[in-house]
Amino acid sequence: MWSITLDQKLHLAPIGSNPQHVLDIATGTGIWAIDFAEQYPSAHVIGTDLSAIQPASTPSNLTFELSDAEDDWLFPQKFDYIHGRTLATCFASPLSVFRKAFEALAPGGWFEMQDMCLQRSDDGSMEGSSLGEWQEHVQAATAFTGVPWTNVPHYAAWFTEAGFDSVTEATFRWPSNQWSGNRKERLLGAWTQAQINNNMLESISTRLFMTKLGWSQAKLDAFLAKVNADTKNPNIHAYSPV
Ligand SMILES: C[S@@+](CC[C@H](N)C(=O)[O-])C[C@H]1O[C@@H](n2cnc3c(N)ncnc32)[C@H](O)[C@@H]1O
Repeated sequence: MWSITLDQKLHLAPIGSNPQHVLDIATGTGIWAIDFAEQYPSAHVIGTDLSAIQPASTPSNLTFELSDAEDDWLFPQKFDYIHGRTLATCFASPLSVFRKAFEALAPGGWFEMQDMCLQRSDDGSMEGSSLGEWQEHVQAATAFTGVPWTNVPHYAAWFTEAGFDSVTEATFRWPSNQWSGNRKERLLGAWTQAQINNNMLESISTRLFMTKLGWSQAKLDAFLAKVNADTKNPNIHAYSPV
């Protein structure tokens, strides 16, 4: 979905063709870092995460390290480019992470976050639906965890607060299904549905709703069946702002 969104680009920041030191915070499976290292063989890329779930076999210019992005950053080198993606509910204080990124960059370096918000609709069509109710419950439950899924719209202001200049925000939409008249958005809607059909709602909701909101499995299952149906309704024009 990121590839489609960014027209197959791995980044939007104007980093030039020869970045030397690149950091991918909270790299997950390392899929972005691997693609980046292959595309920029001159760069030395580091991917960090709390979990060592990355593949053992990687490009020779890529290393993975276990570290918490909210702890002190101890890298001896400065970076030309720092990247983070799909981290909306990872950091108790995104601003403090952005400050660390600012300090860790070489002069003229770039920092880029790629992330998505909870769904909304511009025409009120999500209002009163189970899908709309689900967004409210996810928002409440993530707030209980201390990492609310409401931080992304603040990123640009926090970049500026952290000291960055030339802050640019590019916005996209990930529709809930293929309701959009825009061809690229219809494709992204199909991918959203593919994720939902592979239990995305259950993956996001189960622990949050049962431990933070006290729901039973039966109550959750019944509710998610209605949310699932709403995601497939072409008259509900929901999308995640990206
Ligand atoms: C949704 S995944 C994103 C993976 C990757 N950025 C991508 O776009 O493919 C979130 C990742 O963030 C990691 N994570 C969460 N909090 C973190 C932290 N404080 N420091 C480092 N990694 C963290 C998780 O372990 C998980 O692998």
